Amino acid sequence: MNQSALNGIKACVFDAYGTLFDVHSAVAQHTHRMANASIVSMLWRTKQLEYTWLRTLMGRYVDFWQVTGDALDFALDTHGISDSQLRADLMQAYLGLSCYLEVPEVLNELKSKDIRCAILSNGSPDMLSAAVNHAGLEAYFDAVLSVDGIRIYKPDPRVYQQAVDALGVDASEIAFHSSNAWDAAGADAFGFRVIWVNRFDQKAERLGTSVAAEIKDLSSLTGLIFS
Ligand code: LAC
Repeated sequence: MNQSALNGIKACVFDAYGTLFDVHSAVAQHTHRMANASIVSMLWRTKQLEYTWLRTLMGRYVDFWQVTGDALDFALDTHGISDSQLRADLMQAYLGLSCYLEVPEVLNELKSKDIRCAILSNGSPDMLSAAVNHAGLEAYFDAVLSVDGIRIYKPDPRVYQQAVDALGVDASEIAFHSSNAWDAAGADAFGFRVIWVNRFDQKAERLGTSVAAEIKDLSSLTGLIFS
């Protein structure tokens, strides 16, 4: 990483699902109730994202709660699971996803150094406030921003613009963090300085974009920003 790649950062904006919150922790609470639990969870997540992209391209927005339920139905159906109580329990579990262990401490440190923090997510406002409250993170965020107001999903540039408008700082003064490589690419294309939280040891996307830094989890974030 270029030493100056993160100089002058005034705000930290975080993707929610996969970055702060473990999307696989919903199925993990119910693994004993289905065969192939981890494959179901992966397919649920993959379809959820595909549906956001497809619905945006089709101009057929429905909120992330609906998308998440539709994707779950696809995943359960694919694996021959027909269990309406399990479906309801998995959706409920999505409102109480675990946050990654290092998250509260990192947010606390950023806050203590007067860095403004926000979430910018595909999640609907109700889903995001449930996740933030469940993890006890309410005090750390200056804004929790959802795509729902503009009814378009990431990586449309209008989504990332919401963080600039809400925080009142330049895109180049915002560090954007995502574990989703495609979201990191979209944020770089928009003009944020991007920190790719490569939790899943993925390969880099081939989208003509780059990141300011790549880290394995958020524990090394403050060291990077304040070095
Ligand atoms: C989000 C998805 C992309 O939180 O993880 O926006």
